[in-house]
Amino acid sequence: MALQAASLLPSAFAIPKEVCFPLGKTSAALKDSSLLGVSLSEHLKADFSASVLRSKREFSQRIGPVRAQAVVTTPAVNQAAPEGKKTLRKGCVVITGASSGLGLATAKALAETGKWHVIMACRDFLKTERAAKSAGIAKENYTVLHLDLASLDSVRQFVDNFKRSGRPLDVLVCNAAVYLPTAKEPTFTAEGFELSVGTNHLGHFLLSRLLLDDLKQSDYPSKRLIIVGSITGNTNTLAGNVPPKANLGDLRGLAGGLNGLNSSVMIDGGDFDGAKAYKDSKVCNMLTMQEFHRRYHEDTGITFASLYPGCIATTGLFREHIPLFRALFPPFQKYITKGFVSEDEAGKRLAQVVTDPSLTKSGVYWSWNKDSASFENQLSQEASDAEKARKVWEVSEKLVGLA
Ligand SMILES: NC(=O)c1ccc[n+]([C@@H]2O[C@H](COP(=O)([O-])OP(=O)(O)OC[C@H]3O[C@@H](n4cnc5c(N)ncnc54)[C@H](OP(=O)(O)O)[C@@H]3O)[C@@H](O)[C@H]2O)c1
Repeated sequence: MALQAASLLPSAFAIPKEVCFPLGKTSAALKDSSLLGVSLSEHLKADFSASVLRSKREFSQRIGPVRAQAVVTTPAVNQAAPEGKKTLRKGCVVITGASSGLGLATAKALAETGKWHVIMACRDFLKTERAAKSAGIAKENYTVLHLDLASLDSVRQFVDNFKRSGRPLDVLVCNAAVYLPTAKEPTFTAEGFELSVGTNHLGHFLLSRLLLDDLKQSDYPSKRLIIVGSITGNTNTLAGNVPPKANLGDLRGLAGGLNGLNSSVMIDGGDFDGAKAYKDSKVCNMLTMQEFHRRYHEDTGITFASLYPGCIATTGLFREHIPLFRALFPPFQKYITKGFVSEDEAGKRLAQVVTDPSLTKSGVYWSWNKDSASFENQLSQEASDAEKARKVWEVSEKLVGLA
């Protein structure tokens, strides 16, 4: 089905390498979501090199000498830090949705350096333990803490539990997501928000806000808050132009609580569409990252970043799709669009955003070219609209009980 759809693409859609399409249930209409990578143009390559040099400079200037730190609860290790200085403890990173796919691959990539302790923030304890074991993550390098992003009470409980653990928070990775492209009817979080936006955006919004002070207090050389984005929310790309397109409109549905009672379940006030709800939630993720950057980067030194890791066609994200789609999607990405990225490779990319000293620039949406080199990508007009970011922030803080 997906292959048929590929042949239906007009020649104007000359698909560059690294393109990927998760096609919908009606392949011919190219409806549903798409996840698509774009080739790196020459000017972006130039921007990238310049930004790496700039970030490296900024990093050394800002950090200065790295202080020796008291060991908190993790074993001390000697870790190479910028300019040859040493830090005495492991970094502590919280990764949501680390039980599978990108989150698990990132947890593995970080844990096996021996320099990170990973808090796997997941809703299914046993599944996560099994996943960590089968990925070969050593016991001393991870802790599973329960977190259900579809419940704000659970988010608050997670934050309490994390604070009680006594661990520092050096990096928070908001990675978990649900994607419901074939749903005919909306489903809801514990508080009654449409599930995709409720989980992917509102759950993470509350989590990041409640953990911001912990990040501020971290004495780690580079502290970061990373929110995983997606190309599908960016209408300046081919993938982002496959219907249904992301569009937050005037936020009337979000302002009404997305509950389907006194408001629409969709942010823009329209009829329910699971694929669009996912894309809208990703726009919220990318806007939230930028609003965090505007509000807090200068005062706190925290790096706020988002990314598109590439099309990881094999992950559980597509679990709700029809079986034929799931069977054809990975070979379609590998052999037709050549946009396929393995879970391992995507995990290394996200791990790079967590830890690489050359990626400390804040407010950036990272992508990778076909040689797996990172570059600062451009967000769509809507996903970089500062006024919309402010409004999403203000409405969201009311919905999660922070205002
Ligand atoms: N796959 C791609 O091509 C692609 C492309 C661009 C961006 N992304 C982004 O990458 C991120 C990871 O997706 P993936 O592809 O790795 O999919 P995945 O394998 O399905 O991982 C999603 C994770 O989110 C967790 N999750 C879902 N609902 C949750 C909830 N209510 N509370 C806590 N955790 C919850 C899942 O937990 P369970 O194991 O309990 O279900 C799972 O660990 C997402 O943000 C996605 O938007 C993916």
